[in-house]
Amino acid sequence: MPTSKRLNVAVVGATGIVGQEMLKVLSQRAFPAERVIALASERSKGITVAYNGSRLPVEPLREDSFNGVDIALFAASSDIALMFAPIAVEAGAIVIDNSSAWRMKDNVPLVVPEVNRDDIAGNEGIVANPNCCAIPLTVVLNPLHKQVGVERVLVSTYQSASGAGKALVDELEEQTKAIADGTEPSAAVYPHQLAYNVVPGGWRPEAGGYNEEEVKIANETRKIMHLPELRIAATCVRVPVPIGHGESVFVETFDPITTEDVRTLLGSAPGVIVEDDPHAKLYPTPHHVAGKDEVYVGRIRRDPSTARGLALWIVSDNLRKGAALNAVQIAEEALNMGLVKV
Ligand SMILES: NC(=O)c1ccc[n+]([C@@H]2O[C@H](COP(=O)([O-])OP(=O)(O)OC[C@H]3O[C@@H](n4cnc5c(N)ncnc54)[C@H](OP(=O)(O)O)[C@@H]3O)[C@@H](O)[C@H]2O)c1
Repeated sequence: MPTSKRLNVAVVGATGIVGQEMLKVLSQRAFPAERVIALASERSKGITVAYNGSRLPVEPLREDSFNGVDIALFAASSDIALMFAPIAVEAGAIVIDNSSAWRMKDNVPLVVPEVNRDDIAGNEGIVANPNCCAIPLTVVLNPLHKQVGVERVLVSTYQSASGAGKALVDELEEQTKAIADGTEPSAAVYPHQLAYNVVPGGWRPEAGGYNEEEVKIANETRKIMHLPELRIAATCVRVPVPIGHGESVFVETFDPITTEDVRTLLGSAPGVIVEDDPHAKLYPTPHHVAGKDEVYVGRIRRDPSTARGLALWIVSDNLRKGAALNAVQIAEEALNMGLVKV
């Protein structure tokens, strides 16, 4: 990366499940950080977090936390992002935010580097990291769109517990243990028991029977792909899996394409791995994809119910490509593009 100065990087929400993954990704990718500052709430004062073979003290997030910070990676709530991202920008940092607070604002680029890297150049201090299902979806749809045009998308998600944060992962584990011990599991974090169940909700209801997550996937996919008129609808479901979101996707294209050509196209697309041989029991599963960087695609079929339809199964690690990795990739691209004030 073209920088002689090593950078000061702040991670806001460093004790959370995405923040922890960010620290791991920064170190795994040898991000050129001189200093990493771990920030969280007052509750975490006094604890340390692992980074690059050592431990960082966690500091409580305050208005002066960003003095001297070049890049601020936010992995906390939307409220925290709304309040503190402008403060970080004012202090001279570029902010990359994982929450949904800034994603749909006109002056904030919403970026998946494999799809719309160049949009980073339009930032006014904040770049938004998209929803954990919209990221892998657009990584797969973009090459198809370039080749044959994407006309309509129907997506059903199979979202893991970690997508709702550390608290739900802990609750899923406790519920699973309780069931194994023959005791009654309790549900406090999520509205329903997740262990031994699938739950088509848990997100804030919105108009027309849809929920917040389904609306985000549709709107963010349109924004990332620069397709404001894209016909797209989503159904989101939480499944009792710790890490890794699955997506069953039906795509209608403008021009015809064979499934063989889809396999070849996606096989050479950036950030995509095709695993598609049902006879050999080869298809992506969250268990296998957790910890991996790429977006995995399998079960590539023609949709016989329509003229130019395809059916696909997508799996990606929601904490890596769906959150931390994509955010760090944006930071790397911003550096490569000379957009970080150093
Ligand atoms: N999980 C995913 O797959 C995923 C994917 C894409 C985007 N996101 C987004 O990423 C963000 C973080 O999600 P998560 O899943 O990592 O949640 P999480 O595990 O619940 O972590 C939340 C983090 O926010 C910190 N925090 C809470 N209140 C704070 C405050 N007042 N000041 C400073 N820090 C505070 C927490 O610190 P304490 O430990 O001190 O409370 C913790 O570090 C959310 O906006 C989420 O929507 C998550």
